[in-house]
Amino acid sequence: MITFINENEPKNKRVLLRVDFNVSLNGDYTIADDQRIRQSLPTIELLLKNHNKLILLSHLGRPKGRDLKLSLTKVAMQLHTYLPDYEVHVVNDFLSDKSPVESQGEKQILMLENIRYYEGEKKNDPEFAKSLASLAEIYVNDAFAVCHREDASVVGIPALLPSFGGLLLEKEIKAMEMLLHNPKPPFIAILAGAKISTKLPLIQRLLPLVDKLLLGGGLANTFFLAQGVQIGKSICEPELLDEAKTVLSEARDKILLPIDALVGKATDDPSPVNKPISDLTAEEMILDIGEQARIRFGEVISGAKTIVWNGPLGYFENPLYRQGSKAICKAITDNHEATSVVGGGETLAAIAGSGKLDQITHISTGGGAMLAYLEKGTLPGIQALTT
Ligand code: 3PG
Repeated sequence: MITFINENEPKNKRVLLRVDFNVSLNGDYTIADDQRIRQSLPTIELLLKNHNKLILLSHLGRPKGRDLKLSLTKVAMQLHTYLPDYEVHVVNDFLSDKSPVESQGEKQILMLENIRYYEGEKKNDPEFAKSLASLAEIYVNDAFAVCHREDASVVGIPALLPSFGGLLLEKEIKAMEMLLHNPKPPFIAILAGAKISTKLPLIQRLLPLVDKLLLGGGLANTFFLAQGVQIGKSICEPELLDEAKTVLSEARDKILLPIDALVGKATDDPSPVNKPISDLTAEEMILDIGEQARIRFGEVISGAKTIVWNGPLGYFENPLYRQGSKAICKAITDNHEATSVVGGGETLAAIAGSGKLDQITHISTGGGAMLAYLEKGTLPGIQALTT
């Protein structure tokens, strides 16, 4: 059982709070989207209301050593904009200087510098975990998006301190558990994205649970190939053809593949043509789902009562090929009867700026973590909190 923070506890404690402030960044390393910061605000606010002193822990990117471009300073400044009554102070190196922790003021939130600057984090080094745990009396994990990693700040510390789950973690677990154990039918999954290899176990796990599985993006191409359809220069993973054939033979009636596509000569092709998948020439590649597929997928989504979606339907890096993802997003937000869960950094990037995103029941902060939870039914970081 996990104890989640609540109105009564913890109170008046020094708390290490693991958040996932691995926000998406622009090319110049400024913050592109701060939704991971916003999503943890209720946890931070409740802990502050209960007079706890907070030491925040997060990673940003995958730095090799102390890469200043991935410093958390900008994240701390952004957090301060939401909590103007508090100073958010970045602790440059807690191992060599603990004085900021010892002298932490009432109106001060501490944020340790990017935890992946330290080698001990990814290695889950017990000594490193001990140094972190020594900073506080209580550990709170609100970082669902990194709970699939067995890092010191995710699984090491909770073995050493009384531990709680945060409010975002609670919300994420509830959404995932609903999908796995209590979805209202018809239950529709939309799985897309570049690779079938990252989603094949999830496809196999979800197939018995869903009424329909809609496939798009690069991963659908391997299924086309498995059916003997020529896909020109489209990306695919031929080494997984046998697995794709098995999935199709076992659940052909549940799987819906796009009937047509936006097709071009390269990913930067400015003038794609819409054509049936069966008409692709050897020089062409599939870059997004086509008009008929958008309509058909939309019809299926409009009849669903539970929807889960992970992965962009097209080559979203080029805005021309976001139409499929935007159409899926619109179909979901237009269906007011359904409970919907959408996740994955690329999925959210593909639909950024679309209207009515607040109509989605739950936008997961997890990409890999969401896939791993749905596949395995739990995550190491969640196991570590379970007593
Ligand atoms: C994510 O963005 O999915 C999480 O923050 C985990 O990051 P990672 O894949 O670098 O471990």
